[in-house]
Amino acid sequence: MTQPTSRPWYRTVAGLLPRQMRRRLLCLGRDLASIPARLKPGARPVPWSSLHDVGGGEFHTVGRAILNSLVTEAGLTPDDHVLDIGCGTGRVAFALADYLTAKGCYTGFDVASSGLAWMIRHLPPAAAPFRIVRADVFNTEYRQQSAARAAAYRFPVSSGSVDVAFATSVFTHLLPPDAENYLAEIGRSLRPGGRAYVTAFLMTPERLAPAQAGRAFVPFHPFGEVAHVGDVNVPEAMIAFDEAVFMGWVEKAGLVLSPPVKYGHWCGEAPAPGQEFQDILVLRKPV
Ligand SMILES: C[S@@+](CC[C@H](N)C(=O)[O-])C[C@H]1O[C@@H](n2cnc3c(N)ncnc32)[C@H](O)[C@@H]1O
Repeated sequence: MTQPTSRPWYRTVAGLLPRQMRRRLLCLGRDLASIPARLKPGARPVPWSSLHDVGGGEFHTVGRAILNSLVTEAGLTPDDHVLDIGCGTGRVAFALADYLTAKGCYTGFDVASSGLAWMIRHLPPAAAPFRIVRADVFNTEYRQQSAARAAAYRFPVSSGSVDVAFATSVFTHLLPPDAENYLAEIGRSLRPGGRAYVTAFLMTPERLAPAQAGRAFVPFHPFGEVAHVGDVNVPEAMIAFDEAVFMGWVEKAGLVLSPPVKYGHWCGEAPAPGQEFQDILVLRKPV
């Protein structure tokens, strides 16, 4: 989620290439750049980006920063049941393994088997029980071997059982019906008073012109009535939702936004100190 502030050489070269090649080169660049840190004595395991790409920044540093935001912004406590939607390779799960007590518990799910396999192999022992589930649903970018739709997927938790749910850099990869269902599933999973921490790209009327003029990190193109995408052939690669539509889905899911959206600088705005890249929403299920 957090983007590195300086632009490494491989990003500049990658920007000139077709998307899939660009992605591979970015991963390779990140992996090569990470070798000195991997060789340090006592280094914690870090997945290769080429195995399963979850974005820039140092894996454990970003994971700890997200955990910190869950605590300060979504009121996470060590005894909570946490739901990690699209857990990837467990960037946040590593931090949660140290944080949760035996009274807490963790459920994480994702569509990509390679990332989950790495996560299961490398997660450190934890006081809390950890449950990791592969969601067998289709995603053009992450899982093409399934015919099941995320729009009909039921999260692997019982209704009203979750204290804090979170999805970092996941709504940016869901088609509109999938995103609507995932918000409804968050509403179902949370206990009354539970909170969700969600990141997304929200397209506001003010952002439309800069996004279409290519001032965002990728040029965004209209996709149906409610979204803009970086690549119309692979819409899940990068998707921004019309903010009003997204907030309508939030309301329909029985969730309330509080505090207001923390807008990120993904649309080419000059970043303010401490400003994140993606937009951040904290959603609450009323008591
Ligand atoms: C950019 S990664 C972020 C991973 C993780 N949330 C993190 O912050 O490290 C996006 C993740 O969403 C997962 N994903 C995509 N579609 C999904 C879906 N329908 N359900 C669950 N996970 C999904 C991908 O497999 C990938 O691991």
